[in-house]
Amino acid sequence: MRILVSAASRHGSTAEIATALGAALRDRGALVDVVEPHDVRDISGYDAVVIGSAVYRGRWLRPAKDFVDAHAKELRRRPVFLFSSGPIADQDRPVNSPYDVFTVRHRTGAREHRMFAGKLDPEGLSVGERMHVRMSGGRVGDFRDWDAVGGWAGTIVDAVADEKAVSEDEPRPDVETSPGAAAGSDDAGSEAAGSSTVDPDTVGTEGGRSAEPGR
Ligand SMILES: Cc1cc2nc3c(=O)[nH]c(=O)nc-3n(C[C@H](O)[C@H](O)[C@H](O)COP(=O)(O)O)c2cc1C
Repeated sequence: MRILVSAASRHGSTAEIATALGAALRDRGALVDVVEPHDVRDISGYDAVVIGSAVYRGRWLRPAKDFVDAHAKELRRRPVFLFSSGPIADQDRPVNSPYDVFTVRHRTGAREHRMFAGKLDPEGLSVGERMHVRMSGGRVGDFRDWDAVGGWAGTIVDAVADEKAVSEDEPRPDVETSPGAAAGSDDAGSEAAGSSTVDPDTVGTEGGRSAEPGR
């Protein structure tokens, strides 16, 4: 099972969530690449894709949205899982839902969206960011819940395994009853053949960050 994890991060904490999730997925037997969104060329070799973004002023970061735009057609053909990293407080207060997730879910047919608590370190913020945080009452600290991130890996691996088992049981594409699914399989093959397909194992792994932050 090959899984791509790609997350947009401005100050690094969401990238560390992506790295930790990648490690947890590997622990459960998946072959995983953790690649920054703008470095992904081709997703056709993956059984599933996890897309994440930090949330700023209620929005996903541009590289995550550009990733979805660039790969929307291929994303709809495989299980997609979304996560946002944002609330800079413990999960005991209401969690906001980023505006963009509704659209991204619609465009990718994503199975689910998880919101993970984030981290706020004033040292790395611009003056404008600091002012925004002060005015919106954001709390300084690292609220990331590594158990929640690691636990999600099990859910993802189980869901992808179930989906693979069902698709292997399905009739061959030429007798497929669902027109959308049949077209998807055929198109995927011809697109992969016609493009400069990158072997997922060779795409830059780990995003250059430490493998297991917070453990
Ligand atoms: C200027 C600013 C605006 C933010 N806006 C939101 C927001 O609208 N919703 C939210 O949940 N978190 C918000 N956050 C919190 C960040 O999403 C959080 O700090 C996150 O962990 C940052 O991820 P990164 O380190 O990958 O950039 C904001 C943080 C800053 C500095």
